[in-house]
Amino acid sequence: MNRQNGAARPYDVVLFGATGFVGVLTAEYLASHAPDGCRWALAGRDRAKLERLRTRLTALDPRCADLPLLEADADDAGSLRALAESAHVVATTVGPYVWYGEKLVAACAEAGTDYTDLSGEPEFADRMFLEHDTRARETGSRIVHACGFDSVPHDLGAYFTVRQLPEDVPLRIDGFVRSNAVFSGGTFASALTAMGRGPQMLRAAKERRLHEPRLAGRRVRAPLGRPRFSAETGTWALPLPTLDAQIVARSARALARYGPDFRYRHYASVKHLPVALGGTAALGALLGAAQVPAARDWLLGRYEPGAGPDAERRRRSWFTVRFVGEGGGRRVFTEVSGGDPGYDETAKMLAESALCLALDELPATSGQVTTATAMGDALLERLRAAGLRFRVAAVR
Ligand SMILES: NC(=O)c1ccc[n+]([C@@H]2O[C@H](COP(=O)([O-])OP(=O)(O)OC[C@H]3O[C@@H](n4cnc5c(N)ncnc54)[C@H](OP(=O)(O)O)[C@@H]3O)[C@@H](O)[C@H]2O)c1
Repeated sequence: MNRQNGAARPYDVVLFGATGFVGVLTAEYLASHAPDGCRWALAGRDRAKLERLRTRLTALDPRCADLPLLEADADDAGSLRALAESAHVVATTVGPYVWYGEKLVAACAEAGTDYTDLSGEPEFADRMFLEHDTRARETGSRIVHACGFDSVPHDLGAYFTVRQLPEDVPLRIDGFVRSNAVFSGGTFASALTAMGRGPQMLRAAKERRLHEPRLAGRRVRAPLGRPRFSAETGTWALPLPTLDAQIVARSARALARYGPDFRYRHYASVKHLPVALGGTAALGALLGAAQVPAARDWLLGRYEPGAGPDAERRRRSWFTVRFVGEGGGRRVFTEVSGGDPGYDETAKMLAESALCLALDELPATSGQVTTATAMGDALLERLRAAGLRFRVAAVR
């Protein structure tokens, strides 16, 4: 465990960006789920907003009246250094991360502080690997991106599936994601930003490939699949070029249990062909608009930062990720499922990841690591206890 300077640090967990849409949900989750004795604090750039949030949390639990409030700005390296040095773990919702994220990663890597975020931005993860992985390894800091719906259910779902399959044989896993959820202003801004940065994303990925040590004696791949009808799930499968498959592949690189030759493919799963075609066309149009600054700015202006689906809409939202795994003559069907993926479950995943890093006995890791590598079973059990379902549906 990373506990250097441990005794001197006032907080187990600091939540940065606590006043945003997911930040508030994460703060509410911590207010009702952080165990007794866990020292946590709210951080953000606007003291008045932090005070209003603390009042709201105090209505949930009177003990929140004493929650410390820390002021920091994503552009102010000094305030971020103070934040990182005050905590064992900093969890941040301040995105788009490619704009606002780097200084905090640098501060945590320097201070030996564990770091979790909600980034689903491949370019950000690659750039942070290139710039800060080495220092984080030296100080013992664990930098864990994608601790929300991107990419916890996929990463831990693949991890769970691997463990249902034989050891030391080639493994093939396909993941199929379904959901009926809608998104927040912050998510839309991050997705549109990432879509508008294709060349930068490809450049960062290429540089990473050049710097990352080659995997000796094993093979790991996450190729983009082809659109197809999936008889296994009875749905149309559309390849999803998100960060999720890269995260699964990184876990597979780090953990020998994924076998000598591992392949993961990641799909959106859609029941009806017209919906699949319409969704693909809409995504194509958004991708096109993201390349034109005026169109991108117009679209960004249509979604308010800090706004998102209300409690009633979130209550009706759900997700499932089905996995089909094969290896050594065995075929397993597994499933991870839960409620509103982007917000209620994401807040839960971010909060539980931070608590897990701060409080649980975990394998020794450092540098840029994944949820499966850094936390594995401990996080899976935490999420199960918190209501997410991980199950084996069938074995053939
Ligand atoms: N991984 C996933 O599955 C997942 C799911 C949901 C969201 N996300 C990501 O999480 C991020 C947050 O989403 P959201 O909907 O909560 O967005 P949001 O409501 O716009 O919240 C953004 C937060 O960042 C803060 N912030 C902005 N600029 C700052 C600065 N310079 N210094 C300090 N704080 C600053 C805002 O502070 P103020 O309150 O003071 O404005 C706010 O707290 C986005 O990047 C989104 O893509 C990921």
